[in-house]
Amino acid sequence: MEKKTIETKITIYTFDELTEAQQQLIDKAKEQVAKAYAPYSNFHVGAAVELENGEIFAGSNQENSAYPSGLCAERVAMFYANAQFPEVAVKTIAIVAHTNNRFLEEPITPCGSCRQVLLETESRFEKNITVLLYGTKHIYQIDNIKQLLPLCFEKGSLNS
Ligand code: THU
Repeated sequence: MEKKTIETKITIYTFDELTEAQQQLIDKAKEQVAKAYAPYSNFHVGAAVELENGEIFAGSNQENSAYPSGLCAERVAMFYANAQFPEVAVKTIAIVAHTNNRFLEEPITPCGSCRQVLLETESRFEKNITVLLYGTKHIYQIDNIKQLLPLCFEKGSLNS
């Protein structure tokens, strides 16, 4: 028998410790929560994606009365970016959430489906995506999506 341990490296920052570019990306994500369509959960999520060419695309969660038809903010932003610049890698994604009249104190973490979509973009361009998970108390930085989705199923898995 063998045992294997998989580690996820998280760097924890306060907002003031971030670079200006990181702060700006989080601010873009924060602006988005006001644009979320979340009448069912009242949980407003914003995501901002920065591409390698400096372009920024942002999105919010879009809910639906047929619940599974809605989409998370991360996928709205990521698909938006990939649709506009299909040849350009994604550098960073910032994610924030707002509910009960305040931003979450602890960092919001993306759902499994969003992690899978983020992984596809990371693999597609063979370029790590930095993730910034915002909370008012602190911000988590994770250096690539693989760390958020260990033992993942990806393109290469189809040929193994
Ligand atoms: N949601 C996101 O947009 N991103 C996440 O990371 C977690 C959940 C949305 C989906 C749904 O509209 C609402 O938040 C409650 O789950």
